[in-house]
Amino acid sequence: MSQNSEDRFDLIVIGAGPGGYVCALRAAQLGMRVACIDKRGAPGGTCLNVGCIPSKALLHASEVYDETRHSADMGIEVGKVKLDLEKMMAYKQRGVDGNTQGVTFLMKKNGVAEILGAARLTRPGAVDVALLDGGTRTLSADHIVLATGSEVAPLPGVEIDEDRIVSSTGALDFASVPKHLVIVGAGIIGLELGSVWRRLGAEVTVVEFLDRITPGVDAELAKNFQRVLKKQGIKFMLGQKVTGVKALKASAKVTLAPASGEGEETTLSADRVLVAIGRRPHTDGLGLEAVGVARDGHGRIETDGHFKTSVAGIYAIGDVITGPMLAHKAEDEGVALAEMLAGQAAHVNYDVIPGVIYTAPELAWVGRNEEELKEAGIDYRVGKFPFTANGRAKVNNTTDGFVKILADAATDRVLGVHILGAHAGDMIAEAAIAMEFSASAEDIARTCHAHPTLTEAVKEAALAVEDRALHM
Ligand code: FAD
Ligand code: NAI
Repeated sequence: MSQNSEDRFDLIVIGAGPGGYVCALRAAQLGMRVACIDKRGAPGGTCLNVGCIPSKALLHASEVYDETRHSADMGIEVGKVKLDLEKMMAYKQRGVDGNTQGVTFLMKKNGVAEILGAARLTRPGAVDVALLDGGTRTLSADHIVLATGSEVAPLPGVEIDEDRIVSSTGALDFASVPKHLVIVGAGIIGLELGSVWRRLGAEVTVVEFLDRITPGVDAELAKNFQRVLKKQGIKFMLGQKVTGVKALKASAKVTLAPASGEGEETTLSADRVLVAIGRRPHTDGLGLEAVGVARDGHGRIETDGHFKTSVAGIYAIGDVITGPMLAHKAEDEGVALAEMLAGQAAHVNYDVIPGVIYTAPELAWVGRNEEELKEAGIDYRVGKFPFTANGRAKVNNTTDGFVKILADAATDRVLGVHILGAHAGDMIAEAAIAMEFSASAEDIARTCHAHPTLTEAVKEAALAVEDRALHM
């Protein structure tokens, strides 16, 4: 079959989220002719459009609002602080637009063909694109990368209308501050967006199935984190399974039952309900069955260690495959795959992928937590240092939290670092680099850390592994 040369590529990437667009850019840098297709009107995927970027814009704005209201004891008197939510939303949108336009610019600069439309695999090496501005286009390539990301996991029997009962997308766009926001799920989305609306004045109740918040996070940090959030006025109902949410005319009714199965059902009344119980891989309309791309029991596209799917020439990366659903994980996979396709050796170190919850204080971690080390039977030592003993945290009034370093008992090699505290998300980079270079706790302790900085708490926690912290 003859084809217009404009429609023949070395690589087609489906999905322009952090996985897809970064893969496309790296492949173009390496000399490939690349097309990157997305069915949204703008590139950047979930992350830039309805995820990382708008949520961080609202977290920042609401934190500034909250800090301004509580700045009198620093000698800053501003009178009555007023919220203009419409303007705050416009500020958020400017951030989103600036970032998505930046991706379009980068694709142009690197010669990546950006195509707006819904792609469907028709056979190995070929896709049909239903273009957003009408018509279809058939493209072919030696290699196709599936980077179609994830979507909100539904709560069975609950219809998300993005008005009264919302997903994260609706909760990033409320037109007014809810009086009472009930959040189903004490995971990352629930706590980040719960913090936003709590700071802006909502009563926030978080209902969680498990008897703890943030599953996967080191249990000691999670417990302290919950205590801090509670102090900020967020209410928690743990060990409760939400069994139904019903939208009424001016409110919503949430039905809960003890997760243990024993005990009475109760109900909560809310004016908005956020369902945040996880995300699932997004493969709708992609034509996986037509070409025989296999999925696992969770609907994720199956891949081998080199991102190859069950069909030769088709690869997958990001949220649509196994692993943490994080933008930086998707990006690193995109780069590694592009380099492999160019014949280079590349890999992603899944043992060193940081996680950050962007609340105030932030919670950040990298490597293994205590529960995981115990389960693996690894003998470890713990070094901890509280921010109450850090000079900079004291003057900044950000003394909540602590740093915890877990090091191998025999070799002192750092196995995990967990930080609850202001700027934890920035500080965790030091720990990730240390772990990439197989550093010991002593290596961190002997590295000069600037004074006065919050990072001195990392150094002190490293010293504490040897029981010789100086300021405690
Ligand atoms: P996505 O970003 O989901 O992109 C996939 C793209 O594929 C989409 O744009 C979609 O339109 C497109 N697509 C799908 N099917 C087709 C098709 N058939 N044809 C054409 N295009 C198609 N992660 C972090 O690391 N840090 C954060 O702070 C953070 N905050 C988040 C906040 C929220 C509220 C949410 C929901 C998520 C957040 N995440 C965060 C997670 C992060 O957004 C994802 O891990 C990341 O976007 C995954 O990247 P991806 O490229 O795999 O997929
Ligand atoms: P999550 O997996 O983090 O948390 C979901 C929570 O809901 C869990 O604690 C679970 O036990 C609970 N749950 C499940 N069913 C329930 C029920 N019926 N009743 C009550 N509780 C129930 O999922 P979340 O928060 O939706 O986030 C999805 C993903 O998005 C994250 O895992 C993360 O990968 C990504 N994300 C990352 C961010 C970041 O890096 N800062 C920010 C936001 C999202």
